[in-house]
Amino acid sequence: MEKRKIVVIGSCNTDMVIRVDHLPLPGETIIGYDFMTNQGGKGANQAVAVARLGGDTAFVARVGKDGFGEQSISLLRAEGIDTSHVTPTEGVATGVALIPVDEKGENSIIVASGANAKLSIEDIKAAEPLIREAGIVLMQLETPLETLMYAAEVARKAGALVVLNPAPFPKDPLPESFLSNIDLITPNETEASRMSGIEVAGEETIHQAIRAIQQLGVRNVIITAGGKGAYTDSDGQLIHLPASKTEVVDTTAAGDTFCGALCVALSEGCSLSDGIRFANRAAAISVTRMGAWRSIPRRQELLQ
Ligand code: RIB
Repeated sequence: MEKRKIVVIGSCNTDMVIRVDHLPLPGETIIGYDFMTNQGGKGANQAVAVARLGGDTAFVARVGKDGFGEQSISLLRAEGIDTSHVTPTEGVATGVALIPVDEKGENSIIVASGANAKLSIEDIKAAEPLIREAGIVLMQLETPLETLMYAAEVARKAGALVVLNPAPFPKDPLPESFLSNIDLITPNETEASRMSGIEVAGEETIHQAIRAIQQLGVRNVIITAGGKGAYTDSDGQLIHLPASKTEVVDTTAAGDTFCGALCVALSEGCSLSDGIRFANRAAAISVTRMGAWRSIPRRQELLQ
């Protein structure tokens, strides 16, 4: 791949995190422990992962014209990310996520989209020169679908590898015209079940789900499976790339770290399997620490 730049298109949030001993049930009030305000957002997390792991990154996003938005832009710049297309927006707040994290490191996440919902086709048009330079364009589903559909079309025409992390998975199935512009998709097991209509439980169903998603128009499918690692298909064979065992403190942004790391490895010419191995290592480190950006490792840590 000649063009090495990785353009991430997506959300930028401020995460409000509370540690709890269990996630609240409907109607239940629980008392938690410490509270933290962290930088987050699936798009921003993935851009930070790319930058920390050695990628040449630009981020396309919207934040509010407020303190959280200003802070996000200045911290993204400090990571070496090109923020020329992160647009502060009047009259709307920066995205916020409420995240309780339980003793097992599992979480649930509620996002108030705010400025993320304003990312528009016009924004993608403005960022087209950047997208044309990109080797890889990476997106998730926390910004408007019509904007992402347009971005995928532009990126595909420009010859970039288009990677979609289909999170959070929408109520309706993803349009065929969108999927036909995606080269590589990285659902987790729940998203893979929703996308394929196959209840993923064990390797046989994982392989069936991969094949079903391929039939929707995406050739390369990686199903991430948390502590079990990740699965893909090569010439009809299911390939399992296990993750190393680690102590889990917080799984927030592990999937984002995986996606960012995978794109860095692919931009450096790695095979899909080697890219997944690299991404598994990065994600395994991220779960040992609290928070989103704060948990994402730097390249040097992976080499140690
Ligand atoms: O994937 C984790 C992220 O999801 C959090 O940082 C939160 O902001 C939501 O976007």
